[in-house]
Amino acid sequence: RGVGVVVVAAGSGARLGAGVPKAFVPLHGRPLLGHALDTVARVPGLAAVSVVVPEGLLDVGSASWHGVTLPAGAVVVAGGAERTASVAAGLAALGPDCDVVLVHDAARCLTPLAVFERVVAAVRSGDAGVVPGLAVVDTVKTVDEQGLVTGTPDRGTLRAVQTPQGFDRQVLLAAHASGVDATDDAALVERTGHRVRVVEGDPLAFKVTTPEDLERAARLLPPPQV
Ligand code: C5P
Repeated sequence: RGVGVVVVAAGSGARLGAGVPKAFVPLHGRPLLGHALDTVARVPGLAAVSVVVPEGLLDVGSASWHGVTLPAGAVVVAGGAERTASVAAGLAALGPDCDVVLVHDAARCLTPLAVFERVVAAVRSGDAGVVPGLAVVDTVKTVDEQGLVTGTPDRGTLRAVQTPQGFDRQVLLAAHASGVDATDDAALVERTGHRVRVVEGDPLAFKVTTPEDLERAARLLPPPQV
């Protein structure tokens, strides 16, 4: 059995302020989602892909999809109001052909294939959950509602995590059955008591969130040859 990938692309992208959902914002003339799917299509052992988009963008023949190539056999489903609901919809659409599931943000459209490969390899070698992460360069504080500092975690123990996050399919299904919201899938799996490992991420796996991020992505990605 192979690898299933849920690509979540149903966010509104309010912080990007582009007027279209973030995953459909163009980068060198093609939606972020198209760039993300180019890499997903090359994942070794790929068996299933679900792409989760806003309700109004389900028509893959519409102009918004111009420049997006769906991997063979990929299904497109509508997302929910929160990221967790979008992942659950994509997970339900994957079908039974995969035993490892990756969840990937379309907004991390420049994530190198090597990150996908590292995550899959670690799940295959026995960890129920695997997330790519980077050491944190800033000192991080925890604060209360008044902005008063409540603690300073030892920076050496912190990792900023990215996607794709990889899981044993049954473990991820069970974690999502709880119906709780979280900003990443690993948090749900952690709560079920399964072991989650961090493997090396990549600075190129940054999430396009602000207009500055989009400019950075455009600088990093070589322009298309015409
Ligand atoms: O909002 P945020 O930047 O955390 O979104 C991360 C990823 O999750 C993006 O690719 C976005 O499209 C997706 N998302 C989603 N459904 C939501 C919210 C976010 O698919 N309701």
